[in-house]
This record gives sequence, C-alpha cells and structure tokens, in this order.
Amino acid sequence: MIIATTIQEVTDQINAWKAEGLTIGLCPTMGYLHEGHASLMDASVKRNDRTVASVFVNPIQFGPKEDLATYPRDFDHDCQLLEAHGVDMVFHPEPSEMYFDDFCTYVDMDVLSKTLCGKTRPIHFRGVCTVITKLLHIVRPDRIFFGQKDAQQLAIIRRMVRDLNFDVEVVGCPIVREADGLAKSSRNTYLSPEERKAAVILSRTIRLGQEICAGGERNAAALLEKMKENLASEPLADVEYVEVVDGLNMQPVEQFKEGDLVAMAVRIGSTRLIDNFTVGDP
Ligand code: PAJ
Repeated sequence: MIIATTIQEVTDQINAWKAEGLTIGLCPTMGYLHEGHASLMDASVKRNDRTVASVFVNPIQFGPKEDLATYPRDFDHDCQLLEAHGVDMVFHPEPSEMYFDDFCTYVDMDVLSKTLCGKTRPIHFRGVCTVITKLLHIVRPDRIFFGQKDAQQLAIIRRMVRDLNFDVEVVGCPIVREADGLAKSSRNTYLSPEERKAAVILSRTIRLGQEICAGGERNAAALLEKMKENLASEPLADVEYVEVVDGLNMQPVEQFKEGDLVAMAVRIGSTRLIDNFTVGDP
C-alpha cells in the first residue's frame, strides 16, 4: 500500500492509474479506523480497480469547543486495517498540506446543513463540504463512499455533487454495529464502561422506532413521543435531538414516508453519539 502525505504524490499516482484506464474509488475518513470504515473500503475494492483512503482529521469541521485536539489517532493501526482490506493508497496529509495559512475559500450549503446536527454544529458541514471538494479535486475518483451512520453528511454530499456538477458517483453504505447494537464510532472510545453500557439506548430506540414504523405509523409526533419516552428511561442519556426529516432535503416533516430519515444525537456523559434509520429500510 502506498502511503502518500503530499498532494503531488497523490496526483502523480492518480495520473498513472488514469493513464492505464483504471477506475478509482475514494473513501474519506478521519482515521482511528474500525469495521464501519472497513465496510466502505470493501465496497470500494469490489467496485473499483484502485481504492484510495484518506486519513485526515479535518480541523475546519470542528467547532472551537469540540474535540479536535483529543480526537483519537493511531495511524499505524489504520494502515494495517487499510492494507488488510485491499486499499491501494492512503492519503495522510498534515493540515498545512491541505490548508494554506491564508486559506479563505469554503463550500457552504444552505437548507440541508441547518437542521439536525447543523443546529448545534453551525460550521461543521461547511468544513465537510470544503474538505470533500478538495479531496475530489485531488483524487478525481469515479466513486466516493460514505456511511449511512452519518446520514445528514451523506445527504449533504449527494446534494453538493448534484448542485455543483461533480463528476462522481456517491455510494452510501449501511451502518455497521457492535454486537449489542451500538453503531461503531471512533468516538465510542471516549465512553467509560458504565457509559458504554448506557449507550445501547440509542440503537435500542432506533430498533423501537423501526418496529413502530413497520406497524404502519406515519405520524412523526406519535413516533417521536415513543422514541423520546424510551430514551428517557436511561438516566445517563441527554437527548440533543430526535427528529423525522425528509430523506432528501433534511427538513422536518409531520407525516413521513418511505425514504425519510429518523435521526438522533444523544450525549452519554460528555460524549455525543448519533444514530438513525431510514423509513422502509430493513
Ligand atoms: P469519519 O467519522 O472517520 O467517518 C468516515 C466515514 O466512515 C464516513 O462516511 C462515516 O459515515 C463512515 N462510518 C463511520 N462509522 C460507520 C459505521 N459504524 N458504519 C458505517 N459507516 C461508518 O465522517 C467523517 O469521518 C468526516 O466527516 C469526513 C467525511 C472524512 C470528512 O472529514
């Protein structure tokens, strides 16, 4: 596996692969990789001649009070996982390689980035759209892979690609979970043993929501009431939001339909966790 730290190294290798007519898949990550990330690599390796992963803790998507400094990192372990899953090149730049000191150009999105996580993380999706734009220009992949775990992020990237005519196919991959249901996340490592046990309330509430929807419920208020009641049964859970939004534009809906998104953000202690399901998905 090629380890590239500069944009030039990536560009040279991509040019060589493109000259051979090879297709390229890109899996952007912030590292501290787990099986959830690995599922994106597997999906890309299956569908592309070459797979590039990026490992970059993107400073501009973190708010001033967020966990940029403490975000977990283990690049050696990341490389082992990426190599084991057949990744051909990992791009691991320093922030200075990605952002000039006087960097001042951003890709910002209205509407979709204002709801759900955007309410408490006002600059987050601007940072995500900007870094993904840069990675798309650097790697020029045929396909780019994202997890449903960050459903709003995936919807926003799909919209950005459509609105700004990026020539890339966006592929969404299902949420990978721990044995007890907790969605795998690099941030799960922040949880104490007691908090880790309490965190299962998110996926249990997702399951409950899915069962209620399978029973034919289509009224958002009725669904949310039951889901909130369930979350309230866990004393360590501090709910930031539980909402039903349109699956494409991320705006709240009163009556929902298949393809709409039920999403939550919950703090367990000081750790913010997210989970979601798409109505009608198994
Ligand atoms: P990160 O949190 O490292 O996640 C990288 C990708 O892995 C995202 O597409 C995310 O949805 C996916 N992923 C994480 N956990 C998953 C799980 N349990 N199941 C399935 N997919 C999972 O998301 C980011 O990084 C950043 O915002 C990034 C897109 C890299 C831009 O900086």
